[in-house]
Amino acid sequence: MELIFSLADIEIAAEEFIHFLKDRTVVAFHGNLGAGKTTFIKAICKQLGVKENVSSPTFSIINQYTTANNKSIFHIDLYRIKDNEEAVSAGVEECIYSGDLCFIEWPERVCMLPADRVNVFIDTISERKRKLMCKLPS
Ligand SMILES: Nc1ncnc2c1ncn2[C@@H]1O[C@H](COP(=O)(O)OP(=O)(O)OP(=O)(O)O)[C@@H](O)[C@H]1O
Ligand SMILES: [Mg+2]
Repeated sequence: MELIFSLADIEIAAEEFIHFLKDRTVVAFHGNLGAGKTTFIKAICKQLGVKENVSSPTFSIINQYTTANNKSIFHIDLYRIKDNEEAVSAGVEECIYSGDLCFIEWPERVCMLPADRVNVFIDTISERKRKLMCKLPS
């Protein structure tokens, strides 16, 4: 799927994306610094009824939120992670195999994410517009 959105229509984009995901849980968000990974994850969480503040867990590595349906969402930022071992120590595997939604920023820092994850690519096409491309695993 491909979505082009600004902050003005990010909620609609997030809603479309949630429908597209169906029951898949592990989602890797690729994109340069400032591409809009955290901003889009925040929009998805809002659509799912998360009341907590959604912000980049760069230092804490993993944030946990609760949806309106009382499900957990794990928001993982691997930017500061050096290798698989560090990610395992931080508890990333538990999140991935929990069956709960896991949104992962900087997934390319490790090579321990499941092959059947959903890969999302976010690109800046102008100051305000972003393009999101998503491939479901085959
Ligand atoms: N259409 C858009 N979608 C998402 N973010 C946008 C959009 N237009 C502008 N922005 C801005 O781009 C910036 C994106 O920052 P954000 O923290 O989400 O990026 P990121 O990809 O998570 O960066 P990092 O790699 O540092 O984690 C924010 O300031 C946001 O307001
Ligand atoms: Mg971020």
